Amino acid sequence: MTRYSHPQGHVFYRKMNHPRPKIAYGKGIYLFDEDGKRYIDGSGGPLVVNVGHGRTEVVEAIAKQAQAIAYAHAIMFTSEPAEQLSNELAKIVPLPEARFFYLSSGSEVVEAAIKLARQIQMARGENGRYLVISRWRSYHGMSLGALSVTGKLGMRHPFLSMVHDMPHIDPPYPYRDPISGIEAANRLESAILAAGPMNVAAFIAEPISGASLGALSPTGDYWPRIREICDQYGVLFIADEVLVGMGRTGKWWGIQHWPIEPDIMVTSKGLAGGYYPLGFLAAKGSDVEQIRQTLGDFNHGGTFSHHAVGTAAGLATLRIMQAENLVENAANMGAYLGQKLQQVFGDHPNIGDIRGRGLFWALEIVQDRETKKPFSVKRHVAWEIWERTFDRGLVVYYSQGCADGTNGDLIMLGPPLIVNKTQIDEMVEILADAVIEQFG
Ligand SMILES: Cc1ncc(COP(=O)(O)O)c(C=O)c1O
Repeated sequence: MTRYSHPQGHVFYRKMNHPRPKIAYGKGIYLFDEDGKRYIDGSGGPLVVNVGHGRTEVVEAIAKQAQAIAYAHAIMFTSEPAEQLSNELAKIVPLPEARFFYLSSGSEVVEAAIKLARQIQMARGENGRYLVISRWRSYHGMSLGALSVTGKLGMRHPFLSMVHDMPHIDPPYPYRDPISGIEAANRLESAILAAGPMNVAAFIAEPISGASLGALSPTGDYWPRIREICDQYGVLFIADEVLVGMGRTGKWWGIQHWPIEPDIMVTSKGLAGGYYPLGFLAAKGSDVEQIRQTLGDFNHGGTFSHHAVGTAAGLATLRIMQAENLVENAANMGAYLGQKLQQVFGDHPNIGDIRGRGLFWALEIVQDRETKKPFSVKRHVAWEIWERTFDRGLVVYYSQGCADGTNGDLIMLGPPLIVNKTQIDEMVEILADAVIEQFG
């Protein structure tokens, strides 16, 4: 297999000592490199590829829109796809009379959500509220504002002196911290009281934790108690659905697994399925209206916001999701994937926990199942398993740090939502081979 490394070209990547093959094309759940090697796209990169690769409907929608008009500044024009996508999304997001603001990535919509929370509070006359509480072992984005609420230590560390650090609370983690959801949620109340409720604008969290904690759901009482606390102290709840939104977990939105609603929602990755960089910030119509009446405008913008081609890609992706019942398929195939993983890895001495919802599953790898002791981060266990699966033609997602912020290895699966049982069988078989080779 031809692999390209840094010294060979003028591109530089995040992972620098990792030669990579050149991608040629994709079809359905498969990727093909320039040597013709086939890979099952078992995670769509970081959980992006919802409708599969090579979807003519999306490609044609992009081409048609680019031909008609690729770009017109959103301060001066609206566009048909931006209006239509918003009308469709308003029917499925759990926000009354929802309003949508489009940007190009998860980090950007998180930044925008933080600024929106501040402006909703200002419009309510709560000018002192500026703090956004978040959780450790979370990821909310690469930009400095998003990093200030991110809880992943390695990504924050070099830049901490450059950001306004925000208060963080410990996340719920039933596998390692078996307290009740209420107790875990009450950490938010303590943080609000410590900061002074009059200073707190919002709480941001992933309804189901993404890459940092690996498809982790809190127990059933966690989110209702969080909602109660937010209401009691006038704190807005921002649901970061960047990774778990758009049907990934078998419901349109991760938060819909619990009987509560957020105040602000963001999503990105699956929104345009990887065909275009697109994310949205969504808010209640009443809050947006109050900003309009009180502050005049929403103080935030970007050159590429509300992009006509991006929203056309999002609309075409959404139509495929609806026509092919992919949320339902995520629920059904996800249940099957979960069973397979339990069957194959349920007794493995190095797999401590198997968790997930819909088509987002994680294996937490440990040295010892009894003590739940993680491998040292320096062993790079998740990375080694990732490499073994990659060589065998399966692309999975991995991360480190779940156990204590530094150590703790995760291997994650999140195939396109079009996946079928035979393809799931093959994925699990390849992963099992890689795990056997890793641990013997
Ligand atoms: C929950 C969550 N929020 C925000 C982001 C940032 O998104 P992006 O990488 O598109 O900027 C990510 C990315 O992994 C994420 O998982």
